[in-house]
Amino acid sequence: MSWLNEYQSKLTTADRAMEAVCSGDTVYIHPGSGTPNALVEALVRQAPRLSNVEIVHMLTLGNADYTRPEFEGIFRANALFIGANVRGAVNEGRADYTPIFLHEIESLFSTGAKELDVVLLQVSPPDRFGNMSLGVSVDCTLTAAKHGKFVIAQVNPRMPRAMGDSFLHVQDVHAIVEAEHELPELRFEKADPVQLRIAAHVASLIPNGATLQMGIGAVPDAVLDCLAHHRNLGLHTEMFSDGIIPLIESGVMNGARKSLHPGKLIAGFMLGTRKLFDFIDNNSLFEFHPIKYTNDPFIIARNDRMVAINSALQIDLTGQVCSDSIGTHPYSGFGGQVDFIRGAAHSRGGLPIIALPSTAKNGTISRIAPVLDPGAGVVTSRADVHYVITEHGIANLHGKTLRQRAEALIQIAEPKFRDQLHDFAVRARYLDPKPVLMK
Ligand code: COA
Repeated sequence: MSWLNEYQSKLTTADRAMEAVCSGDTVYIHPGSGTPNALVEALVRQAPRLSNVEIVHMLTLGNADYTRPEFEGIFRANALFIGANVRGAVNEGRADYTPIFLHEIESLFSTGAKELDVVLLQVSPPDRFGNMSLGVSVDCTLTAAKHGKFVIAQVNPRMPRAMGDSFLHVQDVHAIVEAEHELPELRFEKADPVQLRIAAHVASLIPNGATLQMGIGAVPDAVLDCLAHHRNLGLHTEMFSDGIIPLIESGVMNGARKSLHPGKLIAGFMLGTRKLFDFIDNNSLFEFHPIKYTNDPFIIARNDRMVAINSALQIDLTGQVCSDSIGTHPYSGFGGQVDFIRGAAHSRGGLPIIALPSTAKNGTISRIAPVLDPGAGVVTSRADVHYVITEHGIANLHGKTLRQRAEALIQIAEPKFRDQLHDFAVRARYLDPKPVLMK
């Protein structure tokens, strides 16, 4: 059978396709701007005949109606990264959170530790050979599709074709649903003055010829605004956003000096707007790969001058970094923070950076805390942490004693909180009561 005939034979409606989902199944949803919302909505319409369906996903965009209270006992989300659309349900105990390194998620699927009964994904229309691209989000979904028992693809002409390891063939999926919708977008606000001051400190460390990873959040994105005068930057990252477009158009980011994949920008997915989706369409400057490749710390470390820029919610005076919860309340996830912090630490000339505002809640809370809030989850451990940057400066904690760490972190805390941090550090015996002269 030619692929065209196979395509026609698999073509169905979203509601018919969703008959494949049975009670007790585990369903995977393509995340990010790849979220196949026509399929997700059809899944929710099946609620009356279903019970005990686990929905596994990373950060999805759009409504997550399956987490609504009336669907308790029918659907239960298991977020491997928490987005705004499921945060309430997780915190109310109606959905689950699984902390996991991003680069280890695919091995759950390939080893069968997490069996996927149905995989919902979104692809570009097939090319003349029958290949369909996962487009904006290869992430863990290519692997999920290869190991899922029943794969349902929403074919959407608005999905760009991403170059690299982003393709599934018509024969790799079991059902096809054509549905043209604009892809869900994530728009980052313009950086505020505090974020720009942090970003300027980060940019001051970045050498020409560096390869960049930007984590999720306002600060990593703001750094891109401060790199206009750099040269020959590269990209090896799990994700990127619209902020890279001006750097590429001006020739600042060209990958020319990359030690791995020279001349190519490597990524797993993007979170951005239509402008970005059009920019990567058929653009051979980019090479997309599954996360198990982009985020493997040993692969990351093969990039010389690898600069990993990630953000955090809280850090204690010893350097323990909390990025996925506010106290006991799960907020986001590990994502690739540790993957890249470790990869950059092992890269020749690499810079692992945690960059965060010194305060939260309009300056009322110091994010540099004596101790982490009870229940706060350590994402980057105090042995992994290297550079910590706030709007007040740069602290390098690597190889430093607890005493040196406390001193360095107090110096980059918001001034009005420094005395109380110092008093705590003295009581905890991190610091001497008398001022200590640093070597
Ligand atoms: N105590 C109480 N509230 C805090 C807080 C603290 N110490 N720190 C932050 N908050 C609040 C903020 O005020 C904000 O609340 P609001 O939405 O009501 O204004 C909210 O938490 C989010 O903080 P913010 O710093 O604005 O988040 P961000 O969008 O810049 O993202 C992280 C920062 C840490 C949440 C984000 O980088 C993340 O999820 N990281 C996960 C790990 C990672 O980096 N992975 C790599 C990429 S996937």
